[in-house]
Amino acid sequence: MTVTDWVPSVAMKDVATGTAETVLTAYESILAEGSVARYDDGVGNVMWGIFSYAETEQAAVDSDVFSSVTVPEGAPRILPLMADPPEHGAYKRLFNSCFRPDRIAPIEARMRPVAAELIDSMIGAGTVDLGATFVYEFPTRTLCEFIGLGDEWKFYGRWASEMEKATSAGVRNAGSRLPEELMAEIAPPLLALINARRETPGTDAISRIVTAGLDGALLPDDVVVGLVIALFLAGLNTTASGLGNLIYRLARDQESQQLLREHPELIPEAIEEGVRIDSPQQEMPRRTKRDIDVGGTVIPADSAVFLNYGSANLDPKAWDNPEVFDIRRADKRRHLAFGRGQHSCPGSPLGRMQMRVVLEELLRRTSSFSVAGPVERLTWPRLSVERLPLRLVPADAA
Ligand code: HEM
Repeated sequence: MTVTDWVPSVAMKDVATGTAETVLTAYESILAEGSVARYDDGVGNVMWGIFSYAETEQAAVDSDVFSSVTVPEGAPRILPLMADPPEHGAYKRLFNSCFRPDRIAPIEARMRPVAAELIDSMIGAGTVDLGATFVYEFPTRTLCEFIGLGDEWKFYGRWASEMEKATSAGVRNAGSRLPEELMAEIAPPLLALINARRETPGTDAISRIVTAGLDGALLPDDVVVGLVIALFLAGLNTTASGLGNLIYRLARDQESQQLLREHPELIPEAIEEGVRIDSPQQEMPRRTKRDIDVGGTVIPADSAVFLNYGSANLDPKAWDNPEVFDIRRADKRRHLAFGRGQHSCPGSPLGRMQMRVVLEELLRRTSSFSVAGPVERLTWPRLSVERLPLRLVPADAA
């Protein structure tokens, strides 16, 4: 059997081009045949995808073979996301230190009133499009607060969505602005904030980055700007998607909603099962440093490869009834929704906290919420709800 005969390339094409709901069906057909698929667009671009749980996990921890330096040498890189060891380590230690439990714990008390205020205004309105409003406003406001971006969350939120359009999965969308233009727009206000924190540090992430530096060596402005942007871009749409996906899932599942109202202590379990079954970040790119056998298929050196965390989390070889949302699933925490190995997500404690606070407030303030109209989703590289009309029934109306 040749590689081309074996590869389910039609399914991989659906994944690679991100055609709405087809992506999830494509995973099924790829996983039924094997672990790996290959896509050739016929004009010289070949991409590989790893889809099964065991092989995706193995690739994620093997940065000797699967490099995160996916852009050409000398091109701008987002750090630590696009670095390999040993360069990666010091940046990662700095980021990990921003999310130490004692540093993020005080944020919870500040984000809860934001969630309560936004949810109450939605309940007052009866039926709302959660996708267009809440799902982005809450994560944007609370992430800006964590990073130290002041009250300018509308500006930064709009900037992040333009940047995502400009760079999504390495492909520039038609009509989007140039990444260089967007960088030139954000650098001056960020530099002003960075300089202010150098003078008077506070408790936010910018203050931590400028005072701690990299293993003790203070960082120049351009590096700090890059790190702040990395935190903001990596932390915003992922959490927004996780939140929207989970609310959508619960809106279609009154039984699980009721279980969580009666047992709020299960909310963290629901969050883990939610990011397993509807992983916000469906893929992350890598580049192979040498030929490598993945589940019986050889991916050649210097290939573009996507690690499909979203597919791995639905692999029937790794999970019993993977398509069932089961809050009590015993082994759900081994999901790959936050990655694995060197690059695993440093911001997961904050993302989990944001989702938990919203679910606690939403479940407490409603007796039920349900889908009230057509839903629009993105599926790959990010799984999200862009439009989610919800009918909310207040708790005291029950
Ligand atoms: C539900 C929410 C989130 C999800 C699903 C998520 C998912 C991920 C995944 C899958 C990776 C691994 C990347 C790889 O394998 O190359 C990652 C890395 C990363 N995440 Fe998150 N993330 C979330 C929230 C956040 C938040 C809130 C922040 C920051 C405020 C953040 C910052 C980062 C950074 C900086 C990295 C790069 C780490 C490295 O390269 O070592 N994430 N995230």
